[in-house]
Amino acid sequence: MNKPGKIAAEDLSEPLRYGVEAFIGRAYAEAEPARLWAKVWQQAGRVEELRAVGDYITYNIAHDSILIVRDAPDSLKAFHNVCPHRGRRLVGNNTGGGPKTVAQDEGAHSARGHALKFGCNYHAWTFGVDGAARYIPDAEDWQGALDSVCTSLSPVQVDTWGGWIWINMDPGAGPLREYLEPVATMLDPFEFERMRYRLRLWGIFDCNWKVALEAFLEPYHVQGTHPQLIKYGDFYSFSRALGLHGQTGFDSKAHRADGTAADTSVHRAAGDGDPRHTIAAMQREYWETIGASTTETLVECAQRLPLDLPEGTPAAEVHRFWLDSARRRDAERGVIWPEISDAQMAAAGLALSIFPNMNLIPGPTFSLYYRVRPWGTDPDKCLFEAVALDRFAEGEEPETEWTFLEQDLSAWPHVIAQDISNMVEVQRGYKSQGFAGCLPNPWQERKVTNLHRGLARYMGTGAPVPL
Ligand code: FES
Ligand SMILES: [Fe+2]
Repeated sequence: MNKPGKIAAEDLSEPLRYGVEAFIGRAYAEAEPARLWAKVWQQAGRVEELRAVGDYITYNIAHDSILIVRDAPDSLKAFHNVCPHRGRRLVGNNTGGGPKTVAQDEGAHSARGHALKFGCNYHAWTFGVDGAARYIPDAEDWQGALDSVCTSLSPVQVDTWGGWIWINMDPGAGPLREYLEPVATMLDPFEFERMRYRLRLWGIFDCNWKVALEAFLEPYHVQGTHPQLIKYGDFYSFSRALGLHGQTGFDSKAHRADGTAADTSVHRAAGDGDPRHTIAAMQREYWETIGASTTETLVECAQRLPLDLPEGTPAAEVHRFWLDSARRRDAERGVIWPEISDAQMAAAGLALSIFPNMNLIPGPTFSLYYRVRPWGTDPDKCLFEAVALDRFAEGEEPETEWTFLEQDLSAWPHVIAQDISNMVEVQRGYKSQGFAGCLPNPWQERKVTNLHRGLARYMGTGAPVPL
């Protein structure tokens, strides 16, 4: 039975339970915009999307829309995407005679374009990239009462880290860097700011955004959801809280027994078999069934391991040879890896979550990340994204757009489809009158539990309680 009122230990080490209100509660979903989304830093896009002054994107979250624009070669501004006159959404869907946007074509994801002035399609008030009104028809009718504050676009905090743009609607929010720690320092060596989009997929799913996000927060599900990957090794993982954020990493049961989290690498020479072959086969499988979480160079170099190394080469040596050859091969085509020490690589672990709605797999030349958002305030719908970043030689970065995929398992890369296959069924299960709340694994799923502890801080409800 739940024991409400008892506070979970700081490290979440004891068996805990949390309820389903955060997933299916209508009142909860309707409270999220003001209590959560208005307060947290959110990843809203990539800096590379805004190259020239006047380049803009929109980022929509619940019922809010944020307009982010490059207002100077070295600066970005963000505003609530709403006209201060009588509240028309300024940029994006239904632009009428205005510039055609991605949002119009795709129906929903976001708008992207270039403009040095933003004219409202309702009464033609017009704003500069600094958010100030440039043109107000018949302004003298207000008899001098209009000032620059009430006629300007409402500002939103914006900053960058890792090549991502981050926004915060709370004018009193502390600095982004502080919010992201300790994750930012752990990931700085990866130089994500030098990576670029390779693939960006999105869809609208019939589940709560937390259900979709949580499908990727722990490898505990590999045996049930991705049984084909088990042959490559043991996915036993630690999972821990890093403040609001969280981390997983490959682990062993011996570590669990003495209560320490093992420092491990994102790649691990897995299984009892010949590591030359397991790495080669696993990389091939990742490429074919995820299409991310590795790169073409890493996959190709892995295929050469059985040819280049003698049988019996120890796993650690195979692993090192593989990464060294991929680094050299990339350098030949102008793709320079950052210097990441073994200790830094190990400290980053397998995947990091950034509160509340992003989870990221870091690699020396890639990242695969997921971002999930509510769809309006419907607790049963979300906007899901899977994104692959890669390093490219200068001038060879591909132009990419958001690609919409139906909630049809055959549309998504196989492994991600396997994860998606759980989502709607979990959303259904949470509505069962026979379900008494979640029983997260106290060692391998703390990242999930920690998400609910963090959410409860903002929402005032839903904290995990001891079993
Ligand atoms: S609502 Fe924008 S000009 Fe009137
Ligand atoms: Fe998965």
